Amino acid sequence: MRRVGILTSGGDCQALNATMRGVAKSLYNMFDDVEIIGFEDGYKGLMYADYQIMKPSDFSGILTQGGTILGTSRQPFKQMRVPDENGLDKVESMKHTYRKLKLNCLVILGGNGSQKTANLLSQEGLNVVSLPKTIDNDLWGTDMTFGFHSAVEVAANAIDCIHTTAASHGRVFIVEVMGHKVGWLTLYAGISGGADIILLPEIPYDIHAVCDAITKRTKAGKSFSILAVAEGAISREDASMTKKALKEKKKNGIVYPSIAYEIGARIREVTGSEVRVTVPGHMQRGGEPCPYDRVLATRLGAAAARLIADEEYGYMVALKNNEITKVPLSEVAGKLKTVDPNCSMIKEAKMVGISFGDE
Ligand code: F6P
Repeated sequence: MRRVGILTSGGDCQALNATMRGVAKSLYNMFDDVEIIGFEDGYKGLMYADYQIMKPSDFSGILTQGGTILGTSRQPFKQMRVPDENGLDKVESMKHTYRKLKLNCLVILGGNGSQKTANLLSQEGLNVVSLPKTIDNDLWGTDMTFGFHSAVEVAANAIDCIHTTAASHGRVFIVEVMGHKVGWLTLYAGISGGADIILLPEIPYDIHAVCDAITKRTKAGKSFSILAVAEGAISREDASMTKKALKEKKKNGIVYPSIAYEIGARIREVTGSEVRVTVPGHMQRGGEPCPYDRVLATRLGAAAARLIADEEYGYMVALKNNEITKVPLSEVAGKLKTVDPNCSMIKEAKMVGISFGDE
């Protein structure tokens, strides 16, 4: 009997279920004697042995279903070595459950923090295979994470909807896009949604350059402007400050709900425009996975099952040049894939007139 544990960790996204389905269907097709154990709510389920023995039917009909049938939770990597409220060592607890259930391996679907924990567990001697999940697309080692393109669709759709109302009222609209510390989601959503200005964490903005871009549009007879702003966007001024000085500045300044509101206030002040802010927030992680993600999820899931069949552990399956490959977990852990400000996509976006608030 081959026993495979599986868990989904960190913030959810579209295509988690589709990916688990890919792993499970491939395993059931390859082996007659495989048992899949689903841990509930991420690493927490592994720590406290909260699990269910899955049936093949559990993985049927979930290709298009958002969220995760196993539940998920955020277990900060930094606290992995801090004992829990009962004084139990979390890593030891996870190893204990793994051994008690006589697992052959553990399949982990997760983003950055979860991959670090996956690597830790692998270093601790567990057989681990992981899959790249996140709407942020910030995982090193893969061209694309599942969830990203579905989130792009939601964010782009929000910008599409804003277009008609912005045009009717002649206003400046700011759409704040998720993405944590990187700008992938904003870049793709901004370009596909036809945003006029895109602000990314990787390209600190100059508020005067942003306002100039708006004024230029007004002078050219455009009654409205749409900004796609990454939740992690930062001004040049703030980017040049030390963490301590920035904290002090924030403590003594006006407190805005988020960066989009701060930028909105500055635009209002400098240009006198009527500004509105829209924050789609967690909607970007919700709903059905788009067809691209369903395909990616299926391919990654099958590739993970292949690694299990070959007993190749300590890897994350990844997409490189449209081929599915594997990357050692030790190379993935702790690295962020950010947008290169000099990449051709930024240059092409600038060629069609999009401003990044930097010139
Ligand atoms: O990592 C996915 C993500 O949606 C980020 O884009 C965002 O910064 C964060 O999670 C939000 O986390 P939470 O769901 O814990 O509020």
